Amino acid sequence: MLVCVCNRISDRDIRSAIHEGASGFRDVKSELGVGNCCGQCVPFAKGVVDDTLSQLQLSRGFQLAQELKA
Ligand code: FES
Repeated sequence: MLVCVCNRISDRDIRSAIHEGASGFRDVKSELGVGNCCGQCVPFAKGVVDDTLSQLQLSRGFQLAQELKA
């Protein structure tokens, strides 16, 4: 889904940036340019960032728990 119309940035682009090391909206904005024109996409883009970070933290927590069990 297109999140930032001005810069043609999708939710997939944002999720990829997070998985490649971006640690928050500021990093994603700097890396992709999301939200740097009209700004209409910023609230939704921040939501995608937060959701992706939460999923990543859950996944890492699950992996750590599995490693501790082994
Ligand atoms: S829609 Fe993202 S800056 Fe305009």
